[in-house]
Amino acid sequence: MSTITKIPFSKIFIGDSERKYLNEVLDSGWLTTAGKTLEFEKKFADFIGAKYACAVNSCTAALHLGIDALGIKAGDKVLIPSMTFAATGEVVRYIGAEIIPIDTEYGTNLITPEILEKAIEKHKDIKLLIVVHYGGQAAQIKELIEICNRHGIKIMEDAAHAFPTRKDGQLVGTFGDITCFSFYANKTITTGEGGMLVTNDESVYKRVKTMRLHGINRDIWDRFTSKTPSWEYDVIDAGYKYNMPDLAAAIGLGQLEKAELFRSERQKAVEFYYEKLKDLSMIDLPICHGELEDHAWHLFPIVLNQKASISRNEFIEKMSEQGVGTSVHYKPIHQLTYYKERYNLIKEDYPNAELTWSGNVSLPLYPYMTSEELQYIVDAVKNILA
Ligand SMILES: Cc1ncc(COP(=O)(O)O)c(C=O)c1O
Repeated sequence: MSTITKIPFSKIFIGDSERKYLNEVLDSGWLTTAGKTLEFEKKFADFIGAKYACAVNSCTAALHLGIDALGIKAGDKVLIPSMTFAATGEVVRYIGAEIIPIDTEYGTNLITPEILEKAIEKHKDIKLLIVVHYGGQAAQIKELIEICNRHGIKIMEDAAHAFPTRKDGQLVGTFGDITCFSFYANKTITTGEGGMLVTNDESVYKRVKTMRLHGINRDIWDRFTSKTPSWEYDVIDAGYKYNMPDLAAAIGLGQLEKAELFRSERQKAVEFYYEKLKDLSMIDLPICHGELEDHAWHLFPIVLNQKASISRNEFIEKMSEQGVGTSVHYKPIHQLTYYKERYNLIKEDYPNAELTWSGNVSLPLYPYMTSEELQYIVDAVKNILA
């Protein structure tokens, strides 16, 4: 009999260095944005190979600030994939712009150059494309940027799943003008809640830094360390309260040191899944177009296809009965009431997302999964589908 009683969908790993950095913050008497956040920004930018990184309290905040910095205005049209989390769409609505959700490739849930070209033909006056590097796999970002440049469309990358992700060996974050990462609790590295906006454009960086903190023209740290009195500041626009506290940055610094190790650990689990599940005709495995090493492997989403004897929901229930946590990424945007009603979205326009949504389940994936755990999951999948 197996000794395994419960396998969570995701698991975090906090080591000695996170504790050391956290203690430094606690002992410093300064918990909010200051030196540790600056250090995290600098180390993250160096890791990516980008000029600037701006730490915020979520990827949603980073996306919102990015849209603002790109000058997107109320009424502008923004293309997004339907197969994404609500955050990708809601930030567009924050500023009164309008989303146009589009279908994605079956098996990767990515926007391809072909899909983008068709969408541009169909919808005129698009101002922005938000690309999601779904699951941790990079989209064909160079080609997407080239198409957008040709049509005068701006582009921003939602890399909430994609750290560290590469395309042909080059890190996501070095391709486009603005890339936004997430450090939410179940992401590839975490600060509990947190995000990072990366850019090479100094004017974007300056705008994001200002708008991240109430539109104030001086940051908190500077206000309390420079000779100019802290009360002496100006507000240049109606900004937001999106700064990352040092408490979170301390955890991020420790996690960053292990990002590559965590990634390769997740890849080992993925290799196990591919090997053991490849002959199961009732499920479609995620398609990885490039090298396994280039993929961040945030998710391992399988799809129960038409050969499966039970529904996705029944499958999830039975996995849960066996103590295995799973999740669904995602219920597509065109199925969510607010967006469906606002834009009169019909499922016939999203054949691939619909096919995915009818059977998608993400299996547990985190670093250091044991072969016993993995075998237990694979056996559960096989027994349930038998
Ligand atoms: C694709 C995508 N974009 C954006 C976000 C928002 O990230 P955060 O929770 O850090 O705001 C998420 C979160 O799960 C996501 O999956």
